[in-house]
Amino acid sequence: MTRVFCFCTMSYQHLRKDYKKSAFSFEEAPEQPLELFRIWLDDAIEAGLPDANAMCLSTVDQHNRPSSRYVLLKELNSEGIIFFTNYNSIKARDIEINPQVALCFYWMALERQLRVEGVASKISRQESVLYFDSRPFESRISAIVSPQSQVIPNKKILEEKIPYYQSNPAEVQCPEHWGGYLIRPSMIEFWQGRGSRLHDRLRYARVRSDIVWKRDILAP
Ligand SMILES: Cc1cc2nc3c(=O)[nH]c(=O)nc-3n(C[C@H](O)[C@H](O)[C@H](O)COP(=O)(O)O)c2cc1C
Repeated sequence: MTRVFCFCTMSYQHLRKDYKKSAFSFEEAPEQPLELFRIWLDDAIEAGLPDANAMCLSTVDQHNRPSSRYVLLKELNSEGIIFFTNYNSIKARDIEINPQVALCFYWMALERQLRVEGVASKISRQESVLYFDSRPFESRISAIVSPQSQVIPNKKILEEKIPYYQSNPAEVQCPEHWGGYLIRPSMIEFWQGRGSRLHDRLRYARVRSDIVWKRDILAP
């Protein structure tokens, strides 16, 4: 039976909430944005938010067409943010052409958004292997058998490859085309929802050297 799909216009204008969870202290904001980043991420994890480390990653292709997808933050260090992926994927192909990327977190229950702009670069093979080896066995196999972002005729062709690796665990090695990216931020913006849409926004922009950041309050 053919289903006729009727696309009726739906309005979502009635969806409205006021943001009242907390205020932002501009005066107490640290000089280093990664310090505040860590506090906000830890707050989200401690609040038990599902996928608190999930972030929307945006890249652009060779025609400057943007695309976005979620990835998981796996490390936050003094240099920046690390996530792992397939180096043959669409996002990796984009990064190869243009390493400028953007990240966005939304921690709904805390009424907080965190935005990052920066440059992505591959981390060392050694670091990637170290993380790969720490992943659950079945996840490691999935990374090996899945040609991420490629068109496949069906899922079965991937599933059929799994038993071989299950019975040959020594072959479960980090593929050359799998690893991490470090995003070194040039801009980090913290957004705290406030009442009547008068939200708090604090932007850090990297200036001159590696360690000096300019802080600006932005109008909501
Ligand atoms: C919550 C969530 C977390 C994800 N984490 C990752 C990740 O860490 N690495 C990854 O390669 N894909 C991750 N994915 C899948 C990506 O969103 C995406 O489908 C995949 O990486 C292919 O993207 P691409 O074709 O644009 O390269 C995640 C998806 C969701 C919904």
